[in-house]
Amino acid sequence: MPAPTRILQSIQPYVFTTLIAKKRVVEAEGHTVLDLSLGSPDQPMPDALIAAVQEAVADRHAHGYPMMFGEPALHEAFAEYMVRRFGVTLDLPAEMTPTAGSKEALAHLVSAYCEPGDTMLITDVAYPVYERAVASAGAELVRLPVTAATGFWPDLEAVDPVQAGRAKFLLLNFPNNPTGAITTRERWAEAVAFCRRHDIILISDIAYSELVLEGEPAPSVFEIEGAREVAIELHSGSKNFSMAGMRLGIVCGRRDVIAALNNYRTLVGYGVPTIVQRAGTFAFRHAEALSAPIREGYRARFAAAVEGFREAGVSVTPPPAGMYLWIPVPEGQTDWEVTERLLAEERIVITPGSGFGPGGAPYIRISMVAPPDLLREACRRCAAPWVAAAAR
Ligand SMILES: Cc1ncc(COP(=O)(O)O)c(C=O)c1O
Repeated sequence: MPAPTRILQSIQPYVFTTLIAKKRVVEAEGHTVLDLSLGSPDQPMPDALIAAVQEAVADRHAHGYPMMFGEPALHEAFAEYMVRRFGVTLDLPAEMTPTAGSKEALAHLVSAYCEPGDTMLITDVAYPVYERAVASAGAELVRLPVTAATGFWPDLEAVDPVQAGRAKFLLLNFPNNPTGAITTRERWAEAVAFCRRHDIILISDIAYSELVLEGEPAPSVFEIEGAREVAIELHSGSKNFSMAGMRLGIVCGRRDVIAALNNYRTLVGYGVPTIVQRAGTFAFRHAEALSAPIREGYRARFAAAVEGFREAGVSVTPPPAGMYLWIPVPEGQTDWEVTERLLAEERIVITPGSGFGPGGAPYIRISMVAPPDLLREACRRCAAPWVAAAAR
């Protein structure tokens, strides 16, 4: 029997696939399990967005193959959002293209640009899909260490110039998964300058752009002068508008990269379904009104989670953005020990920090994907390993 490629066979299991398998075992024993691992929003898609989808479904012109590089209305709605939200004017259609989510966009970008011998610079810790996309192209990762002390921003001055010289991409994600860290325009300017100096494509993954809970709204890399020459930005409807199941992403920025991405995408599919493009058009036209209640929902979820830990006598700090609590493990325990214990004893699935890179091993991540009351109760129970460690 022919085997899948050596590259595919060599890729480590996705942390969430491993967690799902473990969860299934406990469920098969007859238990109900609360899954706070994957960041799949529990807040439903807003009603007005559902209505936009229904209207699109009813339109017989929306049932054929979609416009691969995006309907003009989607282009316009996204461009207007970029002007309103960031003061950035895109040149359409050359500077944007829709994708079925930013996960797909990333995999396609890496496939379009990377081959064995190439590298991509990412932070250690980072969204695990970056690592897997690079591995699938047979390319290599260079992980830049980050710590809470520097707001999880990498020290770009410390990057080995030889490694920088070999890199195709520097990928940064702020607001950040898993840490919830935010960043500043000054830091984006640093990243733009670094990428210009080393002739690297800067990818800004801004999947959580509307989920800043404390402080200024997140900036776009394109607010920085010269960014258009080196950068592309990945926007997503999944978290900002609670439409993860629709699969809508927008890639915008440097036109030759968009052209290469479009070219690659003609090889692998027919683009984003028209119905989803119409939903995206509605979402970007009404972005502020749609995302505000969702953001409030996350505020309430974080407050409930912190309260649950507090009731158990454990203090945790919510992040300024995003939808995850990123908590140091109790002394003397590993991230996987805490994860296994919470699954076995509390029937709650969380994510071990090492799933986001070796630098994440001293942490676990809890997703704010349950209603506040349930989350409060769950977090009170999740505190057990910290309570036990404090009692020793
Ligand atoms: C940092 C980051 N980027 C991208 C994605 C994927 O987004 P999408 O649903 O648009 O593929 C996620 C999902 O969790 C994420 O955390």
